[in-house]
Amino acid sequence: MEILRTVAEFRQWSRARRCAAETPIGLVPTMGALHAGHASLIQAARARCRHVAVTLFVNPTQFGPNEDFTRYPRTFEADCALAQDAGADAIFAPAVEEIYPPGAATFVQVAGLEDRLDGRSRPGHFRGVATVVAKLFIAAEADLAFFGQKDAAQVSVLRRMVADLRLATAIVVCPIVRNADGLALSSRNAYLSAAERAQALTLSRAVRSVEKLAKQGERRANTLIGAAREVFAAEPAVRLDYIALVDWATLEPVETAEPGTLFAVAAFVGTTRLIDNAIL
Ligand code: PAJ
Repeated sequence: MEILRTVAEFRQWSRARRCAAETPIGLVPTMGALHAGHASLIQAARARCRHVAVTLFVNPTQFGPNEDFTRYPRTFEADCALAQDAGADAIFAPAVEEIYPPGAATFVQVAGLEDRLDGRSRPGHFRGVATVVAKLFIAAEADLAFFGQKDAAQVSVLRRMVADLRLATAIVVCPIVRNADGLALSSRNAYLSAAERAQALTLSRAVRSVEKLAKQGERRANTLIGAAREVFAAEPAVRLDYIALVDWATLEPVETAEPGTLFAVAAFVGTTRLIDNAIL
């Protein structure tokens, strides 16, 4: 496995492997602190692409001023080992100045979408995500890029960006990987105390209860959201950020769930903000 540090090196790696006949290059963007959720994306890329690059970059512009940028877990050696085991051929781990040269003034904004769900609670977050992913796509020149449904609103923002900029990299969305008890894997789970780890199950419980109702044929947004609220009401230590039933493409609230509607929740467990969702 190769370790690449500059955009020029990464582009050279990609161009040297490019061939027109198939979909040769897969990209898996991450912020590191890799877990089995990330591994599933790398394995999906491995299954579909001839060459697989994983990016490890804790992107400063997607963190708010009071968020966890400085204490975000950085575990480079373990990440390389996990990425290699999962099938990566190269790691792109740039310095901050490689992605944001001094004086960097260019940002990608996905108007409307970037202010919904997580973007509403974390102003500027999706502008940072869209900007870094655009930069990674431009550097990698990959054919397919793999993202987790875990960050469902991020997927909506990035799909819109790819469509609007007519980027040549297609987005592939992979299912949420969970612990046996239901908790969606997240690098931020590392922040949870034992008590908080138990409280965190409220999110997946709420998601499951809504999925179950939807499977039974319930379509009304008020009823579905009300069921999730009840689950949160039973665990007052967890502070709800949002519960939403939205069109997955536009992130606009819907009155009636259709196949493909996104049900999403976000909540604070202690000071840790967690998210979960289901596509109904
Ligand atoms: P990060 O949180 O490291 O996640 C990288 C990718 O892994 C994302 O596509 C995310 O949805 C996926 N992922 C995380 N947990 C998962 C799980 N339990 N199951 C399946 N996939 C999971 O998302 C980011 O980084 C950043 O915003 C990034 C896109 C890299 C831009 O900086």
